[in-house]
Amino acid sequence: MSDKNKTYCLINYGCQMNESDTEHYAGQLQELGYAPNPDFHTADIIIVNTCCVRESAEKKIAGKIGELKAVKRANPDVVICVAGCMAQKDGEKLRKKHPQVDLLLGTAYVNDFKRLLLEFLAERKAAVYTDLTIHQSEFEGHMVRQSSFAAWIPIMYGCNNFCTYCIVPYVRGRERSRSIDNIVAEIEAAVKDGYKEFTLLGQNVNSYGKDFGDKDAFAKLLRRVDIIPGVERIHYMTSHPRDMSEEVIKAVAECEHICENFHMPFQAGSSEILRRMNRGYTKEKYLELVKLVRKYVPDATITTDIIVGFPGETEENFEETLDVVRQVGFTSAYTFIYSKRSGTPAAKMENQVPLAVKKERLNRLMALQNENSLKCHEKLVGQTVEVLAEGPSKQKTVWNGRTRTGVLVLWPIEDKQYEVGQKVNVQIEAAQTWLVKGKAVD
Ligand code: 5AD
Ligand code: SF4
Repeated sequence: MSDKNKTYCLINYGCQMNESDTEHYAGQLQELGYAPNPDFHTADIIIVNTCCVRESAEKKIAGKIGELKAVKRANPDVVICVAGCMAQKDGEKLRKKHPQVDLLLGTAYVNDFKRLLLEFLAERKAAVYTDLTIHQSEFEGHMVRQSSFAAWIPIMYGCNNFCTYCIVPYVRGRERSRSIDNIVAEIEAAVKDGYKEFTLLGQNVNSYGKDFGDKDAFAKLLRRVDIIPGVERIHYMTSHPRDMSEEVIKAVAECEHICENFHMPFQAGSSEILRRMNRGYTKEKYLELVKLVRKYVPDATITTDIIVGFPGETEENFEETLDVVRQVGFTSAYTFIYSKRSGTPAAKMENQVPLAVKKERLNRLMALQNENSLKCHEKLVGQTVEVLAEGPSKQKTVWNGRTRTGVLVLWPIEDKQYEVGQKVNVQIEAAQTWLVKGKAVD
């Protein structure tokens, strides 16, 4: 089957889990002898890996799939595959709307892609695969990773939380954890390939291992990964405030390579809104958790996700969101306007908030958060921080990299050459909202 001249183009949308799945598709395509091609107009296989977390994402992706109609017309032999969360959600309906799509692959078929592609190529019969009960959990095959030093490592798939706004549990199925052995083997292999920085991925990493009956499995996994020779930095996301345990915080405090960032989405400040979101914690519990983090890891950055305009959110409720932002002083926050996702309980709730109100709240929230980000970054001025070099800027005037806590750092290129993934000590001289600037001191 291998044909050296054939190429593939991958178009990815959505979260890190999707990026990781796309790297797995690339691995399987290269096993079949396909070469990467950034131009979808000339590729033999196009995969659009989709996201449906908000309506804005879906609209953008639908536009891209629409563009592929002309590509198929110009080259009827091209194979167009739509994968991921939107494919899972819409299935046959999506293929009917976009008949140029040959293969529609839900989220449970990542490991099976190579086989399903070969079956398609043998028969050239369009197919839709959206069974979610396949429940694969172990990783097979190999990844072709985007980065040469940082690797995404999925540790679990799916989500059991059913937050009332969220579509993810419906499109990614129930939680399944990979075994520690399977995860460690993947990391050890990546270290041999030169990888240094690892991000453990899951929709709710704090419930890792609950499906095999161990409530402290995630803390144990962190400690196990920490001692793999060659691993320099470990990150993990996303944490659910309800499930974040003292054991995990202690592991971060005690393990040399686990980085001091806690990404803990709080979503809304009002306990009443949190109850209707089915988040399983109150404003007070969240603030207590922040205190616990600060007790064990005082220099950690805390980052978050926030939704404004959940159905029924009053001005008073929103003020509580601002209050949490003020009290915690997040280093950065992803802020979102609530987006109605049909099939979720919140979509049917009364008192949907008008778009103009949502936008106005988002602007106020972002203005406050920007002040916080600047304040957090100003604290770094004068300090020397360890940065992992990510690469030179486009204009080749500065290098960029990140601190262990996730802050973006820029420093002048001057005459010294660095390798991507190299550790550099940088003395911070100036702070901005999104980044800090400094000079290398070694
Ligand atoms: N509308 C807006 N934001 C959402 N998120 C998830 N679902 C929705 C929705 N329906 C946000 C949450 C989550 C992040 C990944 O996306 O803040 O943490
Ligand atoms: Fe988007 Fe959620 Fe799917 Fe990630 S898991 S691609 S954020 S819908």
